[in-house]
Amino acid sequence: MEGSGDVAGEGPAVAVLEQRLVAGGQGHVLRFWAELGGAARRALVAELCDMDVAEINRFFRRARGEGGGGAAVAAAVLDERMEPVPRDVLGSASRDRGLLPRWESRGLAEIAGSRVAALLLAGGQGTRLGVPYPKGMCDVGLPSRKTLFHLQAQRLRRLQQLAEEQHGTPCHIPWYIMTSGRTMESTKEFFLKHRYFGLKKENVIFFQQGMLPALGFDGKILLEEKGKIAMAPDGNGGLYRALGAHGIVDDMERRGVQSVHVYCVDNILVKVADPRFIGFCLEKGADCGAKVVEKTNPTEPVGVVCQVDGVYQVVEYSEISLATAQKRGPDGRLLFNAGNIANHYFTTAFLKDVVNTYEPRLQHHVAEKKIPHVDIATGQLIQPEKPNGIKMEKFVFDIFQFSNLKDANDLPIQCEISPLVSYGGEGLEKYVKDREFHTPLIIDEDGIRELVKNGM
Ligand code: UTP
Repeated sequence: MEGSGDVAGEGPAVAVLEQRLVAGGQGHVLRFWAELGGAARRALVAELCDMDVAEINRFFRRARGEGGGGAAVAAAVLDERMEPVPRDVLGSASRDRGLLPRWESRGLAEIAGSRVAALLLAGGQGTRLGVPYPKGMCDVGLPSRKTLFHLQAQRLRRLQQLAEEQHGTPCHIPWYIMTSGRTMESTKEFFLKHRYFGLKKENVIFFQQGMLPALGFDGKILLEEKGKIAMAPDGNGGLYRALGAHGIVDDMERRGVQSVHVYCVDNILVKVADPRFIGFCLEKGADCGAKVVEKTNPTEPVGVVCQVDGVYQVVEYSEISLATAQKRGPDGRLLFNAGNIANHYFTTAFLKDVVNTYEPRLQHHVAEKKIPHVDIATGQLIQPEKPNGIKMEKFVFDIFQFSNLKDANDLPIQCEISPLVSYGGEGLEKYVKDREFHTPLIIDEDGIRELVKNGM
């Protein structure tokens, strides 16, 4: 029999748990039970009680059933099925410049009516960045030393102010922040310490996404320590399950929110709840929108929004051949150039459908990773040098297939202007008119500061 089985005398609850694990082929996670102290045992039992082993095994089988045929074959097949996004569902910040004021005023009117929310995806582990705290708490090297959370909060404050000025009614943009088991406490503490960066506490809503165990290639749950499962967040597409589990869509409805801007924490330039983007999506009557940035180099490692068999999806750069990535349209631009920056618009109604109907149909993507783990046979901690297992994740864009998606592309901004001074370029004239500056500089509530004299 698999596992230690050495849980006799621990009470019926643990025995039942063990039975369930063994039946699901995961009894080995109790292998070191006899070596654990009371607190470690309780923590492990709590972790396992929250875990649906049968479901995890089912996810693994479905995720592993994906693709098949090898990367080259898959790419060839996918290439033939891809079509660029049709022009009529695209809006462009450069080509449609004349429409920007209209989109903006439509978006601002929605914001003024408190019908727009921002939703931040901040549940990632940020392993590549390598800092031991949530990415949003990073000082990203701006002269002001503002963190990503700080910048985003100030953009929201400024936007509320703009909408209020234009429409003469007080408004708020609820800010939903998705964290994970690994980032929740430190994120909340950070906001508390900084007094929500001047936002109203009741309009900053934290909720937690789910976690899944990392698995070996054989589907066996890996242990991070002898009494601890190697858990990881279930991808930024874990959003949809979490929205349902924590009643977030209900909360949006209660507040009268109809449009939601979803974005990633690590986008320093993000125009949170961008009124132009919101207005564009509203004008198009879209239930789902993606802000994209033009991909100009075929080998740029960015996924592209396109249609596959007539259905919207994001195709990762690794999923298509170079020949397809290099294809150009009659205007000389890349044919597949809608670079995905994980910047999305959803109506609350669409999110509700996703939560209630579509989410369970989405299958996990498999990421092969080097996962430190305890060897079940020897009890040694192994730091693998090559991938030894998988993490299962859903992606936020997995739901495009259920939508009538619209695309809008964006122009990047260039220098540090406090979001409290200007959200998107407005209100700067009084600072800059008839004056000459040398970069780097900051424009904030205190005026203009050149950081290096004589323009060095
Ligand atoms: P990344 O793909 O950069 O993943 O996330 P990550 O986990 O932050 O970083 P690595 O891969 O470990 O280095 C893109 C966005 O999706 C969010 C992240 O917080 C970031 O805003 N995300 C990612 C989640 O909210 N949950 C997840 O499970 C994964």
